[in-house]
Amino acid sequence: MLRVGLLTSGGDCQALNAAMRGVAKTLYTSGREVEIFGFLNGYQGMIYNRYRKMERENFSGILTRGGTILGTSRTPFKLLDEPTPDGIEKVPAMIRSYQSLRLDALVVGGGNGSTKTANRLAEEGLNVIALPKTIDNDTWGTDYTFGFDSAIEIATKCIDDIHTTASSHGRVFVIEIMGHKVGWIPLYAGMAGGADVILIPEIPYDIENVIDVIERRERGGKRFTIIAVAEGAITKEHAAMKKRERKKLLGLRSATVANEIADQLIVSTGREVRVAIPGHTQRGGTPCARDRVFATQVGIEAGMGILEGEYGFMVADRNREIVRVPLSEVAGKLKYVDPNCQLIRQAKMMGISFGDE
Ligand code: F6P
Repeated sequence: MLRVGLLTSGGDCQALNAAMRGVAKTLYTSGREVEIFGFLNGYQGMIYNRYRKMERENFSGILTRGGTILGTSRTPFKLLDEPTPDGIEKVPAMIRSYQSLRLDALVVGGGNGSTKTANRLAEEGLNVIALPKTIDNDTWGTDYTFGFDSAIEIATKCIDDIHTTASSHGRVFVIEIMGHKVGWIPLYAGMAGGADVILIPEIPYDIENVIDVIERRERGGKRFTIIAVAEGAITKEHAAMKKRERKKLLGLRSATVANEIADQLIVSTGREVRVAIPGHTQRGGTPCARDRVFATQVGIEAGMGILEGEYGFMVADRNREIVRVPLSEVAGKLKYVDPNCQLIRQAKMMGISFGDE
């Protein structure tokens, strides 16, 4: 009998259910006797030993469903060795839950922080496999994470919708796109939506360069400008600061980056400027086809790992091949956009500004 635990941790995203379905169907199809236990609300479920015994039918009809049927929560890695408010030592409690259910393996659908915790549990001797989920696509060791494509679609639709009203009114629009500390979603959605300016954390901007774009477009007869800005975008001035100083300063600001930029543009250009923030809609709703396929493949690979008795890895996409990457290699690293990558060089060739020049 194989006994497998499943959990989803951190911010949710599209296709988490598709991934768990992939794991479960692979295990059930193998002909081995299998019992699956779903921990509720991420690592919290393991800490408090809250779980659901899953049945085959729980994995039916969920391929297209957004969110996660197990629930999720954030359990910050940096607080892992601090007890919960009610005094529970988190790591020992998680190990106890794993052992009391006599699990052979634990599958974690998680982003960066959750994968660090998965690695920690692997170091403690648990058999862990991680699945690369996050809209941000910032997980090191994989070219792609599920949720990313669906989020791009939603952010692109937002830019498309704004385009028509921006052009009717001749307005400047600043559209703030998620991605945490990296610029993958704004880069791809900005390109797909035809943004005139794309600001990402990896390329610090100077507001004067953004103003230049607006004025140049106006001189060329374009009454509107679309600016796609990453929620983590920073100015050149911020980039020159020490990390701690910058964190403190940005932590104090009350407006989001899009509102801050809009205020500066209103003052400097006297134009009508509006802000649009799709926010958590980017993590919501039905997964797109690519995410469904990739998440399913990732789930199948995890299932195969369990059947083979191989653990301690994250399933990854390398050049469109599904591979296994050691958790120890992945944990604690972020995958940033390369500011000199081909896509950015090409975008600049056709006049898209990244605010750096
Ligand atoms: O990691 C996914 C993400 O949506 C980021 O893009 C964003 O910065 C963050 O989560 C938002 O977190 P929360 O849902 O906790 O507000």
